[in-house]
Amino acid sequence: MNKIIDIFKKQESIPLDKFINMVLYDKKFGYYMKKNPFGTEGDFITSPLISNLFGEMIAVWCVAYWEYLGKPKKIIIVELGPGEGSLCNNLLKTFKKFKAFYNCLEINLLEISGKLKKIQNNKIKNSKVKWINSINNINYGPIIFFGNEFFDSLPIKQIYKKGNLLFEKHVALSNNKENLKFLYKKISKKLIQYNDIINLSSSKNMIEYPIEAIEYLKIISKKIHKFNGCLLAFDYGYILDKNQNTLQSVMKHRYKNIFSQVGNSDITSLVNFALFNKILRKNNLNVKKIVTQREFLQKMGILERANILSQKMTFKSKANMYYRIKRLLDSREMGDLFKVLFAQKKDGKFSLGF
Ligand SMILES: C[S@@+](CC[C@H](N)C(=O)[O-])C[C@H]1O[C@@H](n2cnc3c(N)ncnc32)[C@H](O)[C@@H]1O
Repeated sequence: MNKIIDIFKKQESIPLDKFINMVLYDKKFGYYMKKNPFGTEGDFITSPLISNLFGEMIAVWCVAYWEYLGKPKKIIIVELGPGEGSLCNNLLKTFKKFKAFYNCLEINLLEISGKLKKIQNNKIKNSKVKWINSINNINYGPIIFFGNEFFDSLPIKQIYKKGNLLFEKHVALSNNKENLKFLYKKISKKLIQYNDIINLSSSKNMIEYPIEAIEYLKIISKKIHKFNGCLLAFDYGYILDKNQNTLQSVMKHRYKNIFSQVGNSDITSLVNFALFNKILRKNNLNVKKIVTQREFLQKMGILERANILSQKMTFKSKANMYYRIKRLLDSREMGDLFKVLFAQKKDGKFSLGF
């Protein structure tokens, strides 16, 4: 926190997105750069760590998509933000059962954190996997862009409208110079792309503007148009076109005040899926439907698969497996809050899981 307060002594205020970027991803003191936040001992847990069946369902989906494309000789899976690497390992385990697919496979991992890259590197020992620094440089395909809780970890802006004027949320030093506070600064309309779809009005007078996610969606769309492929994204978020402040901070599995543990807690926001849908459509992609994680996993047959596996399990392992599946599917846990978005080319007809 002291390092951050020092930074504010040099500048009056920082836009919210720059602040999030700094506290999460600064090379020296960023949250994701210095610790492994995952699991019961960490700050939060994600679906791949709850059950291996999550990865198995996604692997089967990828194989089916490759078959739908006519079994191309090469297929690239780009995992966006692979965390501590478990999902990639789970995918590989299932992919190996589909020999023809496995022979055509290449996996690219995009990870910003050097600390997490090391953890991934120690865990994933497979020559089909390589790390990339940018998705801009991928120059062949088809490509399946995949991310679990990637977009919710990207910095956002918050824009407010008052009368005809726009204001942006900034972070500044509090009056006693020991803590932080929010303040609002007037901005020009030009700062916002996609003004037509964002459409701030007097009734919808604030929006979370996912400035980095928008750049990713644009590059991903370009790559899909050029090399064919798709985007499959799992994230917590909402589908209804509402305007809300969803910024949150989590540490040791509990919500915190945004400024109480700066640098030691995760800061995220919910994904506005309605906005993502509109942006992808503007970029000429087809978003068939956005479904809940429960719908997707059930349509992929997670319960049937669990029933098969359970036949050879002890009572204790069976109970453990179903308890974990319940966490993924139950509406009071991750089942409804998490949504799945699938985007493909306009003429794409693939619909498994949706
Ligand atoms: C919330 S974690 C999700 C991790 C993992 N997918 C899972 O489900 O357990 C977000 C991941 O995205 C990575 N990340 C965030 N911003 C990134 C960026 N701009 N480029 C690459 N990786 C990024 C983080 O370091 C982290 O690995």
